[in-house]
Amino acid sequence: MRHTMLIASAGAALLAACAAAPDASDQPQASAAGDTYYLRAGMIEEINPPMEAIWNMQVEVMDDFGNFDPALMTPQTWADLQGHAQGLAAATQRMATAGTYVAANPDGPYTDAPVGTDLAAIQQRLDRDKAAYRALSQNTARHAEQLLAAARAQDAAQVTQLVNDMQPQCKACHDVFWYPEEYQGQ
Ligand code: HEC
Repeated sequence: MRHTMLIASAGAALLAACAAAPDASDQPQASAAGDTYYLRAGMIEEINPPMEAIWNMQVEVMDDFGNFDPALMTPQTWADLQGHAQGLAAATQRMATAGTYVAANPDGPYTDAPVGTDLAAIQQRLDRDKAAYRALSQNTARHAEQLLAAARAQDAAQVTQLVNDMQPQCKACHDVFWYPEEYQGQ
């Protein structure tokens, strides 16, 4: 629950940041340097938007149990879902296949750390545990591929399961690489 709130508030901050960004129409920052993945830009520009769109859809088309309700889905909402799932699969795949992980591009728009965190500490963890970061990225990319397949098959039950299981994927990495300080001593 606490994590949901963190993601929600990060999302709100993100909307504000986007609105304020003077160069929002420039090249995406995440993949600006080829094999180097700038992960703060990746989260803000590529990974969070399709995920948030899917979570928002879930609220619009869910039944009383929070499941994607096939009766509420239309050709348009299936197409929207497929588009978001495809965006998420592509974004997570880019992260999973990058050669180097850099917390933020020093010349890009995202050099300020998310509230309560420290980009230098995040970078230290990335440098120390790059293989673990890549493995978590690969898991998330595989999960997104499965979600895309379920969306294409218009399998609402499978979509529900995979969407519900996606947040633990995000959280697994955030717990270790974003804000582990929060968990110390617990
Ligand atoms: C393999 C690791 C990893 C995975 C998987 C991951 N993230 Fe992240 N994410 C991070 C790290 C590290 C940060 C903190 C540093 C930063 O902001 O870039 C972060 C930050 C964020 C932020 C805050 C961005 C900001 O700077 O304001 C959002 C929003 C976010 N992630 C969303 C998601 C969502 C949604 C998912 C799942 C679909 C996800 N992340 C999956 C590593 C990951």
